[in-house]
Amino acid sequence: MTVNSGRPDPRAATRLRELGMSLGFAGALRAAVRLHVPDAIGDKPCTAEELAPRIGAHAGTLERLLRALSVHGVLEELDERRFGHTELSRLLREDEPGGMRFIVLWATAPWTWEAWPRLEEAVRTGENVFEPLYGRDFFGYLAEDDPEAAQTFDRAMTQSSRITSAPVADALDLTGVTGVVDIGGGQGHLLRTLMKRHPAVHGTLFDLPTVVPGALEGLRELERAGRCTITGGDCRETLPDGLDLYIFKNVLEWDDESTLAALRNVVTHGGPGARVSLVQNLIEDSSEIKVTTAMDLFLLLNVGGKKHTAAGLAALFDRAGLRFDGYRPVPGTSLHVVEGGVPRPGEERA
Ligand SMILES: C[S@@+](CC[C@H](N)C(=O)[O-])C[C@H]1O[C@@H](n2cnc3c(N)ncnc32)[C@H](O)[C@@H]1O
Repeated sequence: MTVNSGRPDPRAATRLRELGMSLGFAGALRAAVRLHVPDAIGDKPCTAEELAPRIGAHAGTLERLLRALSVHGVLEELDERRFGHTELSRLLREDEPGGMRFIVLWATAPWTWEAWPRLEEAVRTGENVFEPLYGRDFFGYLAEDDPEAAQTFDRAMTQSSRITSAPVADALDLTGVTGVVDIGGGQGHLLRTLMKRHPAVHGTLFDLPTVVPGALEGLRELERAGRCTITGGDCRETLPDGLDLYIFKNVLEWDDESTLAALRNVVTHGGPGARVSLVQNLIEDSSEIKVTTAMDLFLLLNVGGKKHTAAGLAALFDRAGLRFDGYRPVPGTSLHVVEGGVPRPGEERA
Protein backbone atom coordinates (compact mmCIF):
# COMPACT_ATOMS: atom_id res chain seq x y z
CA MET A 1 0.00 0.00 0.00
CA THR A 2 1.48 3.41 -0.98
CA VAL A 3 0.16 5.55 1.82
CA ASN A 4 3.01 8.06 1.53
CA SER A 5 2.28 8.96 -2.10
CA GLY A 6 -1.26 9.92 -1.09
CA ARG A 7 -2.60 7.26 -3.47
CA PRO A 8 -3.86 4.22 -1.59
CA ASP A 9 -3.98 0.78 -3.14
CA PRO A 10 -7.24 0.84 -5.15
CA ARG A 11 -8.34 -2.49 -3.63
CA ALA A 12 -7.91 -1.10 -0.10
CA ALA A 13 -9.75 2.07 -1.09
CA THR A 14 -12.61 0.07 -2.60
CA ARG A 15 -12.84 -2.15 0.47
CA LEU A 16 -13.15 0.89 2.72
CA ARG A 17 -15.75 2.43 0.41
CA GLU A 18 -17.69 -0.83 0.60
CA LEU A 19 -17.48 -0.95 4.39
CA GLY A 20 -18.52 2.68 4.61
CA MET A 21 -21.55 1.93 2.41
CA SER A 22 -22.63 -1.09 4.50
CA LEU A 23 -25.78 0.71 5.61
CA GLY A 24 -26.74 0.92 1.94
CA PHE A 25 -26.47 -2.86 1.62
CA ALA A 26 -28.53 -3.41 4.76
CA GLY A 27 -31.07 -0.84 3.57
CA ALA A 28 -31.46 -2.55 0.18
CA LEU A 29 -32.00 -5.91 1.88
CA ARG A 30 -34.57 -4.46 4.27
CA ALA A 31 -36.46 -2.70 1.46
CA ALA A 32 -36.59 -5.89 -0.63
CA VAL A 33 -37.91 -7.94 2.28
CA ARG A 34 -40.49 -5.29 3.28
CA LEU A 35 -41.65 -5.00 -0.35
CA HIS A 36 -41.92 -8.83 -0.51
CA VAL A 37 -39.65 -8.95 -3.56
CA PRO A 38 -38.48 -12.52 -2.76
CA ASP A 39 -42.09 -13.68 -2.35
CA ALA A 40 -43.22 -12.06 -5.60
CA ILE A 41 -40.48 -13.48 -7.86
CA GLY A 42 -41.76 -16.85 -8.97
CA ASP A 43 -39.83 -19.81 -10.31
CA LYS A 44 -39.51 -18.00 -13.65
CA PRO A 45 -37.11 -15.02 -13.71
CA CYS A 46 -38.82 -11.71 -14.46
CA THR A 47 -38.10 -8.08 -15.31
CA ALA A 48 -38.68 -5.13 -12.99
CA GLU A 49 -41.60 -4.07 -15.24
CA GLU A 50 -43.25 -7.46 -14.65
CA LEU A 51 -42.53 -7.46 -10.94
CA ALA A 52 -43.47 -3.84 -10.10
CA PRO A 53 -47.28 -4.20 -10.34
CA ARG A 54 -47.16 -7.36 -8.20
CA ILE A 55 -45.66 -5.46 -5.25
CA GLY A 56 -46.90 -1.92 -5.88
CA ALA A 57 -43.50 -0.47 -6.81
CA HIS A 58 -42.08 1.97 -9.35
CA ALA A 59 -40.52 -0.17 -12.12
CA GLY A 60 -37.47 1.96 -12.89
CA THR A 61 -36.52 2.30 -9.23
CA LEU A 62 -37.25 -1.34 -8.53
CA GLU A 63 -34.77 -2.31 -11.25
CA ARG A 64 -32.06 -0.38 -9.40
CA LEU A 65 -32.92 -2.21 -6.18
CA LEU A 66 -32.84 -5.59 -7.95
CA ARG A 67 -29.44 -4.77 -9.45
CA ALA A 68 -28.06 -3.71 -6.05
CA LEU A 69 -29.22 -7.02 -4.57
CA SER A 70 -27.79 -9.03 -7.45
CA VAL A 71 -24.25 -7.78 -6.95
CA HIS A 72 -24.40 -9.37 -3.48
CA GLY A 73 -25.80 -12.64 -4.79
CA VAL A 74 -29.21 -11.96 -3.22
CA LEU A 75 -30.72 -12.34 -6.73
CA GLU A 76 -29.24 -13.22 -10.07
CA GLU A 77 -29.30 -10.79 -13.00
CA LEU A 78 -29.86 -12.76 -16.18
CA ASP A 79 -30.09 -11.69 -19.82
CA GLU A 80 -32.69 -9.18 -21.05
CA ARG A 81 -32.84 -7.41 -17.66
CA ARG A 82 -34.50 -10.38 -16.02
CA PHE A 83 -33.85 -11.29 -12.39
CA GLY A 84 -34.15 -14.74 -10.84
CA HIS A 85 -33.85 -16.35 -7.43
CA THR A 86 -30.64 -17.47 -5.75
CA GLU A 87 -30.25 -19.57 -2.62
CA LEU A 88 -30.11 -16.34 -0.58
CA SER A 89 -33.27 -14.77 -2.00
CA ARG A 90 -35.23 -18.01 -1.52
CA LEU A 91 -34.31 -17.86 2.19
CA LEU A 92 -36.04 -14.48 2.38
CA ARG A 93 -39.43 -15.83 1.25
CA GLU A 94 -42.06 -15.76 3.96
CA ASP A 95 -43.16 -19.35 3.30
CA GLU A 96 -39.64 -20.79 3.18
CA PRO A 97 -39.05 -23.48 5.84
CA GLY A 98 -35.83 -22.46 7.59
CA GLY A 99 -36.23 -18.97 6.10
CA MET A 100 -34.63 -15.80 7.45
CA ARG A 101 -37.09 -13.00 6.62
CA PHE A 102 -37.64 -11.95 10.25
CA ILE A 103 -33.97 -12.29 11.15
CA VAL A 104 -33.16 -9.67 8.48
CA LEU A 105 -36.06 -7.44 9.54
CA TRP A 106 -34.86 -7.67 13.13
CA ALA A 107 -31.22 -6.87 12.33
CA THR A 108 -32.33 -3.79 10.36
CA ALA A 109 -35.21 -2.67 12.65
CA PRO A 110 -35.89 1.10 12.72
CA TRP A 111 -34.34 1.54 16.19
CA THR A 112 -31.01 0.19 14.87
CA TRP A 113 -30.79 3.10 12.42
CA GLU A 114 -31.02 5.51 15.35
CA ALA A 115 -28.70 3.54 17.62
CA TRP A 116 -25.69 2.78 15.38
CA PRO A 117 -24.61 6.44 15.04
CA ARG A 118 -24.37 6.48 18.85
CA LEU A 119 -21.84 3.64 18.98
CA GLU A 120 -19.13 6.24 19.49
CA GLU A 121 -20.92 7.41 22.65
CA ALA A 122 -21.40 3.78 23.83
CA VAL A 123 -17.68 3.10 23.37
CA ARG A 124 -16.84 6.21 25.40
CA THR A 125 -19.19 5.32 28.26
CA GLY A 126 -19.41 1.51 28.06
CA GLU A 127 -23.18 1.91 28.47
CA ASN A 128 -26.14 1.08 26.27
CA VAL A 129 -27.56 3.96 24.19
CA PHE A 130 -31.08 2.60 24.22
CA GLU A 131 -32.27 4.16 27.44
CA PRO A 132 -31.09 7.70 26.58
CA LEU A 133 -32.75 7.34 23.16
CA TYR A 134 -36.08 5.80 24.12
CA GLY A 135 -36.43 6.59 27.82
CA ARG A 136 -36.72 2.97 28.92
CA ASP A 137 -34.81 -0.30 28.73
CA PHE A 138 -34.85 -2.37 25.58
CA PHE A 139 -37.28 -5.13 26.60
CA GLY A 140 -39.58 -2.56 28.26
CA TYR A 141 -39.59 -0.60 24.99
CA LEU A 142 -40.49 -3.72 23.00
CA ALA A 143 -43.29 -4.60 25.41
CA GLU A 144 -44.76 -1.12 25.83
CA ASP A 145 -43.88 1.08 22.88
CA ASP A 146 -43.23 -0.91 19.71
CA PRO A 147 -45.47 -3.96 19.25
CA GLU A 148 -44.33 -4.37 15.64
CA ALA A 149 -40.65 -4.55 16.66
CA ALA A 150 -41.61 -6.91 19.51
CA GLN A 151 -43.40 -9.24 17.11
CA THR A 152 -40.51 -9.09 14.64
CA PHE A 153 -38.09 -9.90 17.47
CA ASP A 154 -40.08 -12.92 18.68
CA ARG A 155 -40.50 -14.23 15.13
CA ALA A 156 -36.81 -13.67 14.37
CA MET A 157 -35.86 -15.68 17.46
CA THR A 158 -38.23 -18.45 16.41
CA GLN A 159 -36.81 -18.46 12.86
CA SER A 160 -33.32 -18.70 14.26
CA SER A 161 -34.45 -21.52 16.59
CA ARG A 162 -35.97 -23.38 13.64
CA ILE A 163 -32.52 -23.43 12.10
CA THR A 164 -30.70 -24.53 15.27
CA SER A 165 -33.18 -26.33 17.57
CA ALA A 166 -32.43 -29.83 16.24
CA PRO A 167 -28.62 -29.63 16.59
CA VAL A 168 -28.97 -27.83 19.95
CA ALA A 169 -31.36 -30.53 21.22
CA ASP A 170 -28.79 -33.15 20.08
CA ALA A 171 -26.02 -31.32 21.93
CA LEU A 172 -27.85 -30.83 25.24
CA ASP A 173 -27.32 -33.59 27.78
CA LEU A 174 -30.64 -34.56 29.40
CA THR A 175 -29.30 -37.66 31.11
CA GLY A 176 -31.10 -38.10 34.42
CA VAL A 177 -33.28 -35.01 33.81
CA THR A 178 -36.98 -35.14 34.65
CA GLY A 179 -37.66 -31.38 34.80
CA VAL A 180 -36.09 -28.79 32.48
CA VAL A 181 -36.72 -25.07 32.04
CA ASP A 182 -35.85 -22.96 29.01
CA ILE A 183 -35.34 -19.48 30.43
CA GLY A 184 -35.90 -16.66 27.94
CA GLY A 185 -37.16 -19.42 25.67
CA GLY A 186 -39.22 -17.01 23.54
CA GLN A 187 -42.07 -18.77 21.75
CA GLY A 188 -40.76 -22.18 22.87
CA HIS A 189 -39.36 -23.74 19.70
CA LEU A 190 -36.33 -25.31 21.40
CA LEU A 191 -38.38 -26.57 24.34
CA ARG A 192 -40.91 -28.18 22.01
CA THR A 193 -38.06 -29.90 20.12
CA LEU A 194 -36.54 -31.16 23.39
CA MET A 195 -39.85 -32.49 24.62
CA LYS A 196 -40.51 -34.39 21.41
CA ARG A 197 -37.17 -36.15 21.90
CA HIS A 198 -37.58 -36.82 25.62
CA PRO A 199 -41.20 -37.87 26.23
CA ALA A 200 -40.61 -38.53 29.94
CA VAL A 201 -39.32 -35.01 30.64
CA HIS A 202 -41.53 -32.18 31.95
CA GLY A 203 -40.66 -28.86 30.32
CA THR A 204 -41.14 -25.28 31.51
CA LEU A 205 -41.06 -22.26 29.23
CA PHE A 206 -40.05 -19.18 31.22
CA ASP A 207 -39.98 -15.77 29.57
CA LEU A 208 -41.23 -12.25 30.21
CA PRO A 209 -44.98 -12.01 30.97
CA THR A 210 -45.50 -10.05 27.73
CA VAL A 211 -43.78 -12.74 25.64
CA VAL A 212 -45.22 -16.06 26.89
CA PRO A 213 -48.76 -15.39 25.55
CA GLY A 214 -47.16 -15.79 22.09
CA ALA A 215 -46.00 -19.38 22.84
CA LEU A 216 -46.29 -21.74 19.87
CA GLU A 217 -49.51 -23.69 19.60
CA GLY A 218 -47.55 -26.97 19.73
CA LEU A 219 -46.34 -26.04 23.19
CA ARG A 220 -49.83 -25.03 24.33
CA GLU A 221 -50.95 -28.54 23.33
CA LEU A 222 -48.22 -30.04 25.51
CA GLU A 223 -49.37 -27.75 28.33
CA ARG A 224 -52.95 -28.98 27.99
CA ALA A 225 -51.59 -32.55 28.08
CA GLY A 226 -49.86 -31.76 31.38
CA ARG A 227 -46.36 -32.19 29.97
CA CYS A 228 -45.33 -28.59 30.03
CA THR A 229 -45.74 -25.38 32.04
CA ILE A 230 -45.66 -21.91 30.52
CA THR A 231 -44.68 -19.21 33.00
CA GLY A 232 -44.06 -15.47 32.78
CA GLY A 233 -41.48 -13.76 34.97
CA ASP A 234 -38.16 -11.93 35.19
CA CYS A 235 -35.29 -14.42 35.59
CA ARG A 236 -33.28 -11.76 37.46
CA GLU A 237 -35.94 -11.86 40.16
CA THR A 238 -37.06 -15.49 40.27
CA LEU A 239 -36.94 -18.89 38.57
CA PRO A 240 -38.96 -22.09 38.89
CA ASP A 241 -37.91 -24.20 41.89
CA GLY A 242 -36.27 -27.60 42.04
CA LEU A 243 -35.66 -28.47 38.37
CA ASP A 244 -32.77 -30.62 37.16
CA LEU A 245 -31.64 -28.49 34.20
CA TYR A 246 -31.79 -24.70 33.67
CA ILE A 247 -31.20 -23.71 30.03
CA PHE A 248 -30.45 -20.16 28.85
CA LYS A 249 -30.14 -19.88 25.07
CA ASN A 250 -28.96 -16.51 23.77
CA VAL A 251 -30.11 -14.76 26.95
CA LEU A 252 -27.03 -14.10 29.11
CA GLU A 253 -25.53 -11.58 26.69
CA TRP A 254 -26.83 -8.52 28.51
CA ASP A 255 -25.06 -6.58 31.32
CA ASP A 256 -23.05 -8.67 33.79
CA GLU A 257 -25.18 -7.65 36.78
CA SER A 258 -28.26 -9.13 35.11
CA THR A 259 -26.33 -12.28 34.16
CA LEU A 260 -25.14 -12.68 37.77
CA ALA A 261 -28.64 -12.17 39.13
CA ALA A 262 -30.03 -14.85 36.78
CA LEU A 263 -27.23 -17.33 37.56
CA ARG A 264 -27.60 -16.74 41.32
CA ASN A 265 -31.27 -17.58 40.91
CA VAL A 266 -30.26 -20.96 39.49
CA VAL A 267 -28.29 -21.54 42.70
CA THR A 268 -31.19 -20.37 44.89
CA HIS A 269 -34.06 -22.04 43.04
CA GLY A 270 -32.30 -25.06 41.53
CA GLY A 271 -30.50 -26.05 44.71
CA PRO A 272 -27.49 -28.39 45.06
CA GLY A 273 -27.07 -30.77 42.12
CA ALA A 274 -29.07 -28.65 39.64
CA ARG A 275 -27.34 -28.20 36.29
CA VAL A 276 -27.17 -25.15 34.03
CA SER A 277 -26.53 -25.10 30.27
CA LEU A 278 -25.97 -21.87 28.37
CA VAL A 279 -26.35 -22.06 24.61
CA GLN A 280 -24.74 -19.10 22.90
CA ASN A 281 -22.10 -17.98 20.47
CA LEU A 282 -18.63 -17.56 22.04
CA ILE A 283 -16.02 -15.16 20.74
CA GLU A 284 -13.06 -17.51 20.74
CA ASP A 285 -13.80 -20.05 18.04
CA SER A 286 -16.82 -18.43 16.43
CA SER A 287 -17.40 -19.87 12.98
CA GLU A 288 -18.87 -16.52 11.86
CA ILE A 289 -16.61 -14.02 13.55
CA LYS A 290 -17.77 -11.01 11.46
CA VAL A 291 -21.36 -11.57 12.62
CA THR A 292 -20.23 -12.31 16.18
CA THR A 293 -18.19 -9.12 16.51
CA ALA A 294 -20.97 -7.00 14.95
CA MET A 295 -23.51 -8.62 17.30
CA ASP A 296 -21.16 -7.90 20.20
CA LEU A 297 -21.50 -4.18 19.43
CA PHE A 298 -25.25 -4.50 18.69
CA LEU A 299 -25.69 -6.00 22.19
CA LEU A 300 -23.74 -3.08 23.67
CA LEU A 301 -26.12 -0.63 21.96
CA ASN A 302 -29.40 -2.20 23.03
CA VAL A 303 -28.87 -3.98 26.35
CA GLY A 304 -25.40 -2.83 27.41
CA GLY A 305 -24.37 -6.45 26.86
CA LYS A 306 -21.73 -8.44 25.03
CA LYS A 307 -20.62 -11.66 23.42
CA HIS A 308 -18.59 -13.66 25.92
CA THR A 309 -15.43 -15.70 25.98
CA ALA A 310 -15.49 -19.04 27.79
CA ALA A 311 -13.09 -17.65 30.39
CA GLY A 312 -15.39 -14.66 30.98
CA LEU A 313 -18.35 -16.96 31.54
CA ALA A 314 -16.31 -19.21 33.84
CA ALA A 315 -15.54 -16.14 35.99
CA LEU A 316 -19.24 -15.18 36.11
CA PHE A 317 -20.18 -18.76 37.08
CA ASP A 318 -17.67 -18.56 39.90
CA ARG A 319 -19.01 -15.22 41.16
CA ALA A 320 -22.56 -16.61 41.07
CA GLY A 321 -21.54 -19.67 43.13
CA LEU A 322 -21.77 -22.15 40.24
CA ARG A 323 -19.33 -24.87 39.20
CA PHE A 324 -17.99 -24.42 35.64
CA ASP A 325 -17.79 -27.74 33.78
CA GLY A 326 -16.57 -26.54 30.35
CA TYR A 327 -17.91 -25.86 26.88
CA ARG A 328 -18.15 -27.44 23.43
CA PRO A 329 -19.41 -26.36 20.01
CA VAL A 330 -22.85 -27.35 18.76
CA PRO A 331 -22.01 -29.11 15.48
CA GLY A 332 -23.46 -27.50 12.35
CA THR A 333 -24.11 -24.16 14.08
CA SER A 334 -22.11 -21.17 15.33
CA LEU A 335 -23.29 -21.90 18.91
CA HIS A 336 -21.63 -23.47 21.95
CA VAL A 337 -23.01 -25.27 24.97
CA VAL A 338 -21.48 -24.02 28.22
CA GLU A 339 -22.15 -26.27 31.20
CA GLY A 340 -22.02 -25.98 34.95
CA GLY A 341 -23.97 -26.78 38.06
CA VAL A 342 -24.84 -25.95 41.62
CA PRO A 343 -22.22 -27.64 43.83
CA ARG A 344 -23.36 -30.17 46.38
CA PRO A 345 -22.21 -29.55 49.96
CA GLY A 346 -18.47 -30.14 50.22
CA GLU A 347 -17.99 -30.20 46.45
CA GLU A 348 -15.26 -28.07 44.82
CA ARG A 349 -16.46 -25.41 42.36
CA ALA A 350 -13.52 -25.42 39.92
C1 LIG B 1 -32.24 -13.12 22.25
S1 LIG B 1 -33.78 -13.75 22.78
C2 LIG B 1 -33.50 -15.50 22.75
C3 LIG B 1 -34.75 -16.29 22.58
C4 LIG B 1 -34.55 -17.81 22.53
N1 LIG B 1 -33.95 -18.33 23.74
C5 LIG B 1 -33.69 -18.14 21.33
O1 LIG B 1 -32.53 -18.48 21.47
O2 LIG B 1 -34.24 -18.06 20.22
C6 LIG B 1 -33.80 -13.33 24.50
C7 LIG B 1 -35.05 -13.79 25.19
O3 LIG B 1 -34.95 -13.46 26.60
C8 LIG B 1 -36.18 -12.96 27.02
N2 LIG B 1 -35.95 -12.10 28.21
C9 LIG B 1 -35.46 -10.84 28.24
N3 LIG B 1 -35.37 -10.39 29.50
C10 LIG B 1 -35.82 -11.40 30.29
C11 LIG B 1 -35.96 -11.53 31.70
N4 LIG B 1 -35.62 -10.53 32.52
N5 LIG B 1 -36.45 -12.69 32.18
C12 LIG B 1 -36.80 -13.70 31.34
N6 LIG B 1 -36.67 -13.64 29.99
C13 LIG B 1 -36.18 -12.50 29.48
C14 LIG B 1 -36.70 -12.20 25.82
O4 LIG B 1 -38.09 -11.97 25.90
C15 LIG B 1 -36.31 -13.14 24.69
O5 LIG B 1 -37.30 -14.11 24.44
